[in-house]
Amino acid sequence: MAFTTRLKTAVKAILGYPLPGHSDTLPAISQANTLRTVYFRECLRKVAGLDGAVVECGVGQGYGLCNWAALTSLDSKQRLIWAFDSFEGFPKFSKEDEASEEREASYSQYKQFNLLYVLNVMRTFGLTTTEIDRRICFAKGFIPASLGLYDKSPIALLHLDLDIYEPYKEALNFFWEFVVPGGIVMFDEYNKALDVF
Ligand SMILES: C[S@@+](CC[C@H](N)C(=O)[O-])C[C@H]1O[C@@H](n2cnc3c(N)ncnc32)[C@H](O)[C@@H]1O
Repeated sequence: MAFTTRLKTAVKAILGYPLPGHSDTLPAISQANTLRTVYFRECLRKVAGLDGAVVECGVGQGYGLCNWAALTSLDSKQRLIWAFDSFEGFPKFSKEDEASEEREASYSQYKQFNLLYVLNVMRTFGLTTTEIDRRICFAKGFIPASLGLYDKSPIALLHLDLDIYEPYKEALNFFWEFVVPGGIVMFDEYNKALDVF
């Protein structure tokens, strides 16, 4: 077994979860991530004058969430960030998702990104436990059932990154009425090829 594989196995055995960024197939850093951060910042600037939360549906490893937390801390408005995810991977695909074995295998990686994993990513990123507790509301569960956890407060920016049809539709239908006039709804998958790693 290669040294890095043994090291990862040992770290996982000790911690109970793999270290963030140590997935074999998901990149820890990329040009696309940096450009996405810049784009997030531009979107936040556009809603700078509006009151309301940032709501992210689809947290994955927590990279986007880290960005939202860091970027909103630069603003005078202390926005609450809502983070909706099953934190146990994807539900069943519907016929609209054009499921394939390759896609299902790729998406099965998301099962490992539980709440503990994401919190560890956020702490490694540099967010303190106090900041996380004060500014981020985790809403764990499968959409649409988990949507009832939302407190129905106004939303300045809604980021949908759920990858598949049904939860996208349900989340958009549910959150739309809370998005304030001039607020932004972002679709990660809009006009883009499917995410397959
Ligand atoms: C591509 S990942 C999100 C990536 C993340 N926004 C980022 O920037 O790193 C998609 C996430 O959607 C979640 N998801 C998909 N369908 C869901 C559903 N019905 N309910 C809750 N979470 C769901 C999966 O668990 C997965 O973590």
